[in-house]
Amino acid sequence: MLNEFEVSLQPVDSFTSTQLVKNKYENILQQLDSAIMLFDSEGVLTFINMQMAKLLEMPRVALNGCNLLQILQNPDLNRFKKKKIIKIYRETIFQRKRYHELIDESGQHWLITVTYGDQMDGDFLISMKDVTDYKQIEQTAYRNDKLATLGKISASIAHEIRNPLTAIRGFIQLLRPHLLQLGKDEYARIILTEIDRANDIIYEFLNSSKPSAPQKKIVSVHSLLKEVILLTESEALMTGCQIVLVEESSPLYVSIDVKQIKQVILNIVKNAMDAIDELDGERNGFIEIKLKADKKYVQISIRDNGRGMDPNTLAHLFDPFFTTKEGGTGLGLSVSYRIIRNHGGVISVDSTKGIGTEFIISLPLCTGC
Ligand SMILES: Nc1ncnc2c1ncn2[C@@H]1O[C@H](COP(=O)(O)OP(=O)(O)OP(=O)(O)O)[C@@H](O)[C@H]1O
Ligand SMILES: [Mg+2]
Repeated sequence: MLNEFEVSLQPVDSFTSTQLVKNKYENILQQLDSAIMLFDSEGVLTFINMQMAKLLEMPRVALNGCNLLQILQNPDLNRFKKKKIIKIYRETIFQRKRYHELIDESGQHWLITVTYGDQMDGDFLISMKDVTDYKQIEQTAYRNDKLATLGKISASIAHEIRNPLTAIRGFIQLLRPHLLQLGKDEYARIILTEIDRANDIIYEFLNSSKPSAPQKKIVSVHSLLKEVILLTESEALMTGCQIVLVEESSPLYVSIDVKQIKQVILNIVKNAMDAIDELDGERNGFIEIKLKADKKYVQISIRDNGRGMDPNTLAHLFDPFFTTKEGGTGLGLSVSYRIIRNHGGVISVDSTKGIGTEFIISLPLCTGC
């Protein structure tokens, strides 16, 4: 029997040859990495390729010949996909948009194109293409552009905030002898330490477009984490959450700017506490900090059982000024991203809305330390 790709030397009748060509093109469409489906002018699905059936998580035979309503009523179609299909239908058919972008449950970006009109003989062709890689490039460019702008304004803001702080510092020093007489010198000491800390934070947060070159020191990751947990203990107590550091048997060393990396871990732990706080006591808050290492990298995992993130927040959380909090600056994670990158590391995140979030910071291990 003739294979559909074999070229026959025998003359074939016109019906067979048309069928061969049809099969050949259908085969090509089946193998495309874009997902496609074709509805006829009556709204009936006449063609769907494997990729689209895979995306809908339904067999092609169950969909072919159905109209949109029948597809939506199919009990095997999951709720998330159903909602997305209705949204795409509204935008493309009623609002006549030819393109639609969506982020699926796993955070992949898709570009959906709808083609109809004269050239389609009344048919509607819907195609979906995975554009996650392009989106990432676009977001990195956007982030870098924003960071450059941030760099320009940060110098002046830092200057403006440091001026009043310097004045406060000066007056506290003048008041110090009086406080000493009242037996309250401890207050003056705390105020001065806190002003110095605020000054440091302003510089580290706002100078994010060119964070000062890391002043590297070789330290044990475990003791660094212990110090950070100590700093967050009182706040954790107030938020009603427990922070647990999973002990690591062999010591792991990294060459880092301690202040900068502490700032990154504090940002992430602080975000975790906020995410737990936003649950309004729905469950006991829990933050687990764990260490893992391979030959080259140490991985610091910070996992919380807070409110988690939706795909849109996940896609933007490293963007400067992106925040979902009323009093947030949206700078914490963009600065952290920059600091980790300057250390030759990476920061990644996995989150499920309603369940929790895990941040993983990978830093080059200091081998031979
Ligand atoms: N652990 C987490 N759980 C849920 N959402 C998070 C978590 N970490 C970050 N986010 C989301 O990412 C956004 C950006 O975080 P980022 O630290 O950059 O800024 P912020 O926390 O909003 O502001 P700031 O750091 O100035 O207080 C947050 O507003 C929040 O929506
Ligand atoms: Mg934050």
